[in-house]
Amino acid sequence: MSGEQGPGDRIDFGYQQVPVAEKAQRVGQVFRSVADKYDLMNDLMSVGLHRLWKRQTVAMARLRPGMRVLDLAAGTGDLSRLMARLVGGRGQVVMTDINDSMLAVGRDRMLDAGITGNLDYALVNAEALPFPSGSFDRVTIGFGLRNVTDKTRALREMHRVLKPGGFVLVLEFSHLYLKALQPAYDAYSFQLLPRMGKLVAGDADSYRYLAESIRMHPNQETLRDMMQEAGLEDCDYTNLSGGVVAIHRGFRY
Ligand SMILES: C[S@@+](CC[C@H](N)C(=O)[O-])C[C@H]1O[C@@H](n2cnc3c(N)ncnc32)[C@H](O)[C@@H]1O
Repeated sequence: MSGEQGPGDRIDFGYQQVPVAEKAQRVGQVFRSVADKYDLMNDLMSVGLHRLWKRQTVAMARLRPGMRVLDLAAGTGDLSRLMARLVGGRGQVVMTDINDSMLAVGRDRMLDAGITGNLDYALVNAEALPFPSGSFDRVTIGFGLRNVTDKTRALREMHRVLKPGGFVLVLEFSHLYLKALQPAYDAYSFQLLPRMGKLVAGDADSYRYLAESIRMHPNQETLRDMMQEAGLEDCDYTNLSGGVVAIHRGFRY
């Protein structure tokens, strides 16, 4: 999607096609429904692997004290929490999400963890960032881009708010390069995951959406090209866990 489509056009919501204007609302319902059980489900679904993927992302951010970081679609704040420690008291992490339920759970977690002072919160749609151009050293978005209606528009916005020399990291589910694993991964995603969602979060549909939205998300090369087209430079990616997840990086010069 290029940012030029009208609200009458249709777009994927998992395997369904819905009016463009409806996708954000449907995604909003998913995350409002799962917010309370989101962290527990992440640990169960990924058998804890999501923690390693997030640590790897933060390591790749090469943060230094004093840096300003924008965390988009931050949800309950796993990346924000790790990054706030690294930028220190002179730095700042702005933890943002479009969904007030997810952000509220995240805010409570940060306060419980004693992270205050260098962490700000804001309700923000990744497609329209309320920040001046060139204001962040890093922009991160973890497992969020998949849910955004107009990904190209969001990527352009990330490029705009980066300082020259800064870069964006997109941590997202991707496409397996170890094809032998595909049947097991499909069985897990489409059979086990919705059952687990029903049992733990009382919501099978949201976890069915998760599996479908992963399959509909652009593969590694396509996302890299989209980032390049959005103005980011030297775009590359690192596969993790056989391509279950990839970390894409793109610079602003
Ligand atoms: C799977 S959660 C990821 C949360 C967190 N980053 C993590 O890695 O655990 C996806 C998040 O994307 C948010 N989201 C969806 N569409 C968005 C948009 N257009 N702008 C900002 N956030 C969005 C959802 O509200 C949700 O909190």
